[in-house]
Amino acid sequence: MKKIAVLTSGGDAPGMNAAIRAVVRYGIFAGMEVMGVERGYAGLLEGKLTNMNMRSVSDIIQRGGTILRTARCLEMKEKAGQEKALAQLVAHGVEGLIVIGGDGSFMGAKALSELGFPSIGIPGTIDNDLAYTDYTLGFDTACNTILDAINKIRDTMSSHDRVSIVEVMGRNCGDLALYAGLGGGAEVIIVPEHKIDIDRVCERLEASKQRGKHSGIVLLAEGAGSAADWAEQIGKRTGLSVRSTVLGHLQRGGSPSMKDRFLGTSMGVYAVKLLERGVSNRVVGIRDNKLYDEDIVTACRMKKKFDVELYNMAAVVAR
Ligand code: ADP
Ligand code: F6P
Repeated sequence: MKKIAVLTSGGDAPGMNAAIRAVVRYGIFAGMEVMGVERGYAGLLEGKLTNMNMRSVSDIIQRGGTILRTARCLEMKEKAGQEKALAQLVAHGVEGLIVIGGDGSFMGAKALSELGFPSIGIPGTIDNDLAYTDYTLGFDTACNTILDAINKIRDTMSSHDRVSIVEVMGRNCGDLALYAGLGGGAEVIIVPEHKIDIDRVCERLEASKQRGKHSGIVLLAEGAGSAADWAEQIGKRTGLSVRSTVLGHLQRGGSPSMKDRFLGTSMGVYAVKLLERGVSNRVVGIRDNKLYDEDIVTACRMKKKFDVELYNMAAVVAR
């Protein structure tokens, strides 16, 4: 394979730049030409492909976001859009495509591979909602950003004897709330995958106050309702002083953690090596600390399992 292209799609995630850098530099090292596609599938459909060189990816490993920029593109969901994308790749002489993004972006890569175009996916989303891999790029950095926010909120909550409902992202996946809740000592974690009754939440907060705590943190995944609603209901039922904070897009930006730089770099190299060996229509993942690749169709079909054991453990140690 002599010419490949790379794009980022869907929500940006810290670590995407590390992956782009690795794809470009390893690709050139392996004797390939590497093109960068601007703004995901939207840019691909418009033919926004440019040649990348060693210097195009200088000084980016430490930066959040994606230098290629990203977009959500409805046209790519339709057959006509997918055929247009294929035509652009062929017109630019590209022989293989690396897509960095989440499950939606992988559907686009899957469509291209079904049209016969060699495609590889790298998981890039803060949500950690892909079943075939233990971690996605950006998840670790977002967890650390949430931990930093919890630390600050905790200072104020404990000074005022208050409870804070902190709403985090994740779409329908509770992993950001689960992992950051465990690491931040949240008294209650609320996720869409494992329902908890509001009476139980109130009981837990009241019991923790009785045990002498001056603050409470409830980490709420956005897929399990709004922080304002939970705060209002908990306040009414318990009489506790409750506040709510929605962390929002703060969670998507920032300099990637060591883990995300490592994952981005090693997954980027792994993806190019697959294409180099003539292997395609795969997605790169990490299982039990080891990189591996999975068939793209199988990966898109897999349903993620929520880690109930971890959830229960977090509840036991945050008393
Ligand atoms: P993420 O990749 O983070 O899950 P989205 O779900 O927004 O983000 O998907 C990103 C883009 O991937 C969409 O805007 C669209 O261009 C493409 N995409 C999503 N679903 C499909 C699909 N079923 N078929 C083809 N392309 C898709
Ligand atoms: O998929 C990443 C994510 O940040 C989700 O956690 C969140 O629900 C969504 O994207 C927000 O999308 P937008 O940036 O388009 O508002």
